[in-house]
Amino acid sequence: MRLLVVGSGAREHAIVWKLSISPKKPEIFVAPGNAGTGALAINVPIALDDIDKLILFAKENDIDLTVVGPEIPLVNGIVDRFQNEGLRIFGPSQKAARIEGSKSFSKEIMRAANAPTAPFMVFDNYSDARKYVLEHGAPIVIKADGLAAGKGVVVAQSIDDALEALHNMMIENIFGFSGHRVVIEDCLSGPEVSVFCFSDGKNTSSLVAACDYKRAYDGNEGPNTGGMGGYSPPPWWSHNLEQEIKETCIQPVIDQLALDGSPYVGVLYGGLMLTEQGPSIIEFNARLGDPEAEFILPRLENDLIDVIDAVLDGNLENLQLRWENDFVVGVVIASGGYPGTYQTGYIIEGSNEKSDDGMIFHAGTQLRDGVISTAGGRVLTAIGKAATMEGARASAYKLVRSVKFTGKEFRTDIAQF
Ligand code: AMP
Ligand code: GLY
Repeated sequence: MRLLVVGSGAREHAIVWKLSISPKKPEIFVAPGNAGTGALAINVPIALDDIDKLILFAKENDIDLTVVGPEIPLVNGIVDRFQNEGLRIFGPSQKAARIEGSKSFSKEIMRAANAPTAPFMVFDNYSDARKYVLEHGAPIVIKADGLAAGKGVVVAQSIDDALEALHNMMIENIFGFSGHRVVIEDCLSGPEVSVFCFSDGKNTSSLVAACDYKRAYDGNEGPNTGGMGGYSPPPWWSHNLEQEIKETCIQPVIDQLALDGSPYVGVLYGGLMLTEQGPSIIEFNARLGDPEAEFILPRLENDLIDVIDAVLDGNLENLQLRWENDFVVGVVIASGGYPGTYQTGYIIEGSNEKSDDGMIFHAGTQLRDGVISTAGGRVLTAIGKAATMEGARASAYKLVRSVKFTGKEFRTDIAQF
């Protein structure tokens, strides 16, 4: 069996690792990959959004199955393009991926499904949006409709901040076309949790839950990042909460997408807020999270290839998805200065350390003249796994300490309660 994984982050390293331990012993290619994936698979220098070249590679190399990590190729229609060429690929179609690629589409689907989410309005016109903000008052949340590399949401505590966000998105075009349409919604509060499930378009698997840390510095200070670490499962996660979220937030949305003619096949990622009125959906993503994949996949007991086959064959009903009870903690190690400007090209020591209960997934790493060096903002995710959160945290931080490179940065309070 020959597999192609698309992407280059720690999420993709985790996917490659999980596929590599399949009893089916697949041969794995990664486009473009990183130094970590290169140790388990063959990296091929094709950009993750170069769909033409990816199709050519899959054809010329008899790839049996392609697995897509990041949102950009999904939203750009990689799944439809592969399928039109008769190639087997795991991920939602372009129409279904609008659940992540267009916040207004996503909110309309939630509304039609009667799934709990903040009340909202959609605007294509700056002066109407401005008028609405002035009437509504703060706090208020402004969201660019399209993809904005995780930066398209402003939770505005004042009217001035909200108006500035609108101006930036709709007039200054800071997110280009993505910000020409905005969703403006009410501000909710409560603890946040991310849930992930597999769907074959009709059936959904059990949910797995994780929490992440978005701010750069300890104590949730500093700028927002792609994610500095997290854990799975949350200590307070329960079967009842899982059932409630599945019944109110997930299955109705999967059913609505099917009714809409956009059946959802792949991993659905729900970002939720647990408000006093119950769980409410903040957003959907069309893929595994990064860093969440790094602390979820080590808990998956099934062979990932079996799960993907069940999804693609519309046979998820007959698959029992099993998650280990262990806790997994993941700590992101970043380049000094991230998420602002940072330097790359520093030699990394200890990036391939592992222990009985921990390992390191690579993100921004590169093999240069046989030496592993930094090549991005988020460089590595160290994970630890144990029967207790404390144990998992200790194992993860032990690996964090064994890594050395100039400017190394990480949060010291991941999974500290
Ligand atoms: P997103 O990019 O949609 O994940 O949003 C980023 C963050 O903004 C979320 O994780 C929440 O913390 C916050 N956020 C988004 N929507 C709301 C909302 N309606 N009320 C309060 N906070 C929100
Ligand atoms: N961890 C946030 C994301 O993957 O979008």
